Amino acid sequence: MSNPVIEDVTRHATSSLVAVAGHPIHAMLVTFPIALVVSTLGCDLFYWWTADPFWGRAGLYASGFAFWLGILASLAGTAELLLVKGIRKRVASWIHAIAAITLMSIVGANWGLRLHDPDVVLPLGLMVSLLGLVFVGLAGWHGGKLVFDHGIGLMVSSDD
Ligand code: HEM
Repeated sequence: MSNPVIEDVTRHATSSLVAVAGHPIHAMLVTFPIALVVSTLGCDLFYWWTADPFWGRAGLYASGFAFWLGILASLAGTAELLLVKGIRKRVASWIHAIAAITLMSIVGANWGLRLHDPDVVLPLGLMVSLLGLVFVGLAGWHGGKLVFDHGIGLMVSSDD
């Protein structure tokens, strides 16, 4: 019996091309910026609480790694978006990309601010970290929708 959900997924190819044995590299990489954006906010809150410069330095490293690993993940995501027709054709993919690029701008600004002025953490750095948390939620949620609602990146078996 035909399954309408599987039929919609298979109408245009949505399987990942930037993948290891069919598993999308983008999905493997995004865990790093997500965790590091949250960690940056954690460092700022500990810095506020303790005034220990250690947390200022930790926030500088967390935001820097969040930015560069986010860029790496975004390159893999952008390659999928441009190369795979079934991904390119879905509005949801572009909504996710816009949220992700906005996120990367915020994360880059957060790192750049700290690089030039370590005292920027309170209050500006903390506020940028909070904005980063909002956008990591938005970008991550929309990325999840691509997989769970639109079946993007799945290896669909003809037996299913
Ligand atoms: C321009 C940048 C980006 C583009 C074009 C993009 C594109 C995509 C695509 C096509 C997918 C479907 C899975 C796949 O085929 O790999 C996806 C999934 C996802 N993306 Fe992105 N992405 C970008 C950046 C980001 C960033 C920075 C994050 C971090 C918050 C992120 C979080 C996610 C998540 C959480 C998923 C679901 C993965 C899963 O559930 O396994 N994306 N993205």
